[in-house]
Amino acid sequence: MSREVHALAPDEFLEEVHSFEFWFHSVEGYLADTEFGHRPGTPEAEIPPDRRERLITALCNYCIGETAALEGASGLIGFAPNRQTKIFLATQVVDEARHLEVLMHRMTELGAKDPEAEIKRRATRTLPLFRRRLLELVASKDWEAAIFAQNVILEAMEFAAFQAHARNADPITREVLEGVIKDERRHMGFGENELGRRLAATPHVRARLLQVKRELDPLVLETFEEMLAELAIPRSERPELGRNYLATVERLGFTA
Ligand SMILES: [Fe+2]
Ligand SMILES: [Fe+2]
Repeated sequence: MSREVHALAPDEFLEEVHSFEFWFHSVEGYLADTEFGHRPGTPEAEIPPDRRERLITALCNYCIGETAALEGASGLIGFAPNRQTKIFLATQVVDEARHLEVLMHRMTELGAKDPEAEIKRRATRTLPLFRRRLLELVASKDWEAAIFAQNVILEAMEFAAFQAHARNADPITREVLEGVIKDERRHMGFGENELGRRLAATPHVRARLLQVKRELDPLVLETFEEMLAELAIPRSERPELGRNYLATVERLGFTA
């Protein structure tokens, strides 16, 4: 009897954490009473013009990452292996679209007249390459590789960048990023759980994932290099960014 319950519990757990019901209870705590990801009463700080420009460039590149995740998550639904993963990915699509929306809105609050044009103009060299490679993996319907690239690598990259940035950001940008980080944590949890179970069942998948990691890590680290010039992160914290990314991926169980 107890063995049966033990065998059943993980399914119940997955049913719960992959549901819109769970998603709604998660987000209402931090999104209730916000407008475009921050509380309406949070005051706008004085941001010197050069710092404002760098902030807009960082937000533009975040938007490229969020667009990649939005397109990737929606594409993954088409060949997700079961109902639970399709429903979870639908909640992720909603999250990523919200992230894109609030980050673009933040740009307009900072004075960007045409955020779409700014995103094209201010993109780093490597992030669009990452986006293209992720979408190729989705188009090839390689479930494990695409989930790995999106819900482990891309999420860990965003998680490291947003956390470092939030610590050093103006109050409104910090609130926006903190809400986004909470969602990204949920998305990483999905990737870790989904791939953890698949790796346990089919260990040879690991070699393919490490191949994807070897291909994408340089793009992530170069993106950080390009972004560090834009982020208002003290020089002393900068080497941490790449290390935090690699440590997050490792913590999720993926080492080179
Ligand atoms: Fe996101
Ligand atoms: Fe995400």
